[in-house]
Amino acid sequence: MMKLAFLLFALVALSECLHKIPLIKGKTVRQKMKENGLWELFRQLYPYNPMAKFDSSFAVGTESMTNDADLSYYGEISIGTPAQSFKVIFDTGSANLWVPSTYCSSQACTTHTKFDPEQSSTYESTNQTLSIEYGTGSMTGVLGYDTVQVGGISISQQIFGLSETEADFMNYMTADGILGLAYPECAASDATPVFDNMMTQELVSQDLFSIYLSSNSEEGSVVIFGGIDSSYYTGSISWIPVSSEYYWQVNMTSVTSNGETVACAGGCQTIVDTGTSSIVGPSSDIQNLLSYLGASEDQNGDAFVNCSSVESMPDLTFVLNGQSFTIPPSAYVSESDGCTLGLEDGGSSQLWILGDVFIREFYTIFDRGNNQVGLATVV
Ligand SMILES: *[C@@H]1O[C@H](CO)[C@@H](O)[C@H](O)[C@H]1NC(C)=O
Ligand SMILES: *[C@@H]1O[C@H](CO)[C@@H](O)[C@H](O)[C@H]1NC(C)=O
Ligand SMILES: *[C@@H]1O[C@H](CO)[C@@H](O)[C@H](O)[C@H]1NC(C)=O
Repeated sequence: MMKLAFLLFALVALSECLHKIPLIKGKTVRQKMKENGLWELFRQLYPYNPMAKFDSSFAVGTESMTNDADLSYYGEISIGTPAQSFKVIFDTGSANLWVPSTYCSSQACTTHTKFDPEQSSTYESTNQTLSIEYGTGSMTGVLGYDTVQVGGISISQQIFGLSETEADFMNYMTADGILGLAYPECAASDATPVFDNMMTQELVSQDLFSIYLSSNSEEGSVVIFGGIDSSYYTGSISWIPVSSEYYWQVNMTSVTSNGETVACAGGCQTIVDTGTSSIVGPSSDIQNLLSYLGASEDQNGDAFVNCSSVESMPDLTFVLNGQSFTIPPSAYVSESDGCTLGLEDGGSSQLWILGDVFIREFYTIFDRGNNQVGLATVV
């Protein structure tokens, strides 16, 4: 009995170190535009390359999709004193925090919560500007400092962007802004990222954060700062060293299916990105993979399969630094969306992105202390 009581106490004490922010799986831009009858036209007018976020040379046009139209997870943070609340995407593929502000007169700012620096007693202004390309459009703004609250953690003097202009596409985003979780080297205007301040201000017990994305339900997804919660996974955690400390980038050995290499022969680089909805790869690899899977492409280049063939489709295995991570067709085919595939052509870029399609299958730990990514099968 004593032993049990002690164990329970230890568990409670441990769980207190975890700062959890629930993530809501909300409507995507694609869903909202479809409801408004705008999607087909928008998709034709504004071709999108998911790789543009990582390399502006892949940008298509000047004012098109600034961000992924299929992102759906967001959580709440607050900024200032008294606190002003915002919904943000927790994006491991960028490193800046920004929210709409009262300085912004773009259409997208009329449909979102705006930060008002004059209403915050702890706000400090700067004359530094911020400009971020997420895809083929951008946001611009100014940088300021204020107290930021994330999951019960209060970060003082966090630098963040107050938007002045936002591309039209952001109109349809459920989230107001973005909270970047990549390395500081990746931050625009050298702005110190939120997690770097959490570490230097010693607000987390371990220098890592972890993310669980629920597949089915609107609720249950979570980002956890400062710890690992074993209730989200089964089996052991596989650790993969980060190969380039800028994004959460790792060495991919190959992509296999039924024991054969189907893509990334000879090795490649991949970024683990919560801010990309699909799995993206170089054009030649993705095209090979699509024909291997028997997929067709619609007029916008979205790949799909006949829904009756999903059951007989193969698993795909992503071999990261020699360790295998397998996802079933139910993970990479969206049956709710006409059996479209969560595999996208990234054009001539040689990089891969493992986005939400992959992350939903594995509780993912982003370990800054040891520069490694941990993956464990979700329960
Ligand atoms: C910003 O620039 C203005 C005008 O040049 C100057 O008066 C002000 O002190 C600057 N503010 C900061 C915070 O540097
Ligand atoms: C990644 O692969 C490259 C090339 O094979 C190798 O030089 C490097 O050490 C690897 N990095 C890690 C972190 O495993
Ligand atoms: C899907 O496959 C089934 C069974 O092979 C076939 O009967 C059906 O016509 C196909 N549907 C389309 C839209 O091709």
